[in-house]
Amino acid sequence: MGILDNRPALKAGIDRIAEVAGYLWEKGWAERNGGNITVNITEHVDDVMRSLPALGAPRPIGKVLPRLEGCWFYCKGTQKRMRDLARAPMANGSIIRILPGAASYEIVADALVAPTSELPSHLAVHDYLLAKGSPYRASLHTHPIELVALTHSRRWLEKDVATRMLWSMIPETKAFCPRGLGMVPYLLPSSVELADATIRAIDGDYDVVMWEKHGVFAVDVDIMSAFDQVDVLNKAAQIYIAARSMGFEPEGMSEAQMQEISAVFGLPKQGLF
Ligand code: 13P
Ligand code: ZN
Repeated sequence: MGILDNRPALKAGIDRIAEVAGYLWEKGWAERNGGNITVNITEHVDDVMRSLPALGAPRPIGKVLPRLEGCWFYCKGTQKRMRDLARAPMANGSIIRILPGAASYEIVADALVAPTSELPSHLAVHDYLLAKGSPYRASLHTHPIELVALTHSRRWLEKDVATRMLWSMIPETKAFCPRGLGMVPYLLPSSVELADATIRAIDGDYDVVMWEKHGVFAVDVDIMSAFDQVDVLNKAAQIYIAARSMGFEPEGMSEAQMQEISAVFGLPKQGLF
């Protein structure tokens, strides 16, 4: 018997994670074990779950994250493949709970699958979101080809230079990724320094930030919405690259056109063009 049995709401949430994992593989953003997903599932926890024994010893998070005490998360397993997770989410990820003191966690279900190596970044961001009273419960890290390519040029690493270009490629980009794309300078994958820098970037009022020369980190209410924000941004990057491949610099929408989108849709960051 698995933890998802007789828990339809929790199972539906995990099924959506598996669906997104499949999209990441199909998009070519998830080579080998690339990328990770965590979702705060605390709202689905019942008394029977709370009484379940741990599958192994407590493990340190690497940070103290006070608002996460007693919270539960689904986490992709470290070294696990998105394409495998798409078929078997509970064999390629696990459900963990944060222990009293908020400095450690234990794996509860279904198998002893160690969480992603990027757990410090993911959990630090969840802690930050709860502190802000945010409704966001999902975080996604993935390696979208065109967005990562942009971060190999100083030009696009300057604050909001890539944001403006991406928004101007197609009207939907600003409508559906209205905070744009933040930038995090290169730091060692899985490090606490990367977790801290990710928080600083998200705190600069972004839902999606780039880890320079590595990948993207996105947050939203649920995993499908986090995926959608990355998908629209990467689509805009592909349009830019397609135009450049045809031999010209794309004109981009005008500032007036983008301001009109912002006004009609009531978007944040109205002055940023
Ligand atoms: P994990 O397999 O530990 O999740 O790592 C993948 C990754 O993309 C690291 O940045
Ligand atoms: Zn990565």
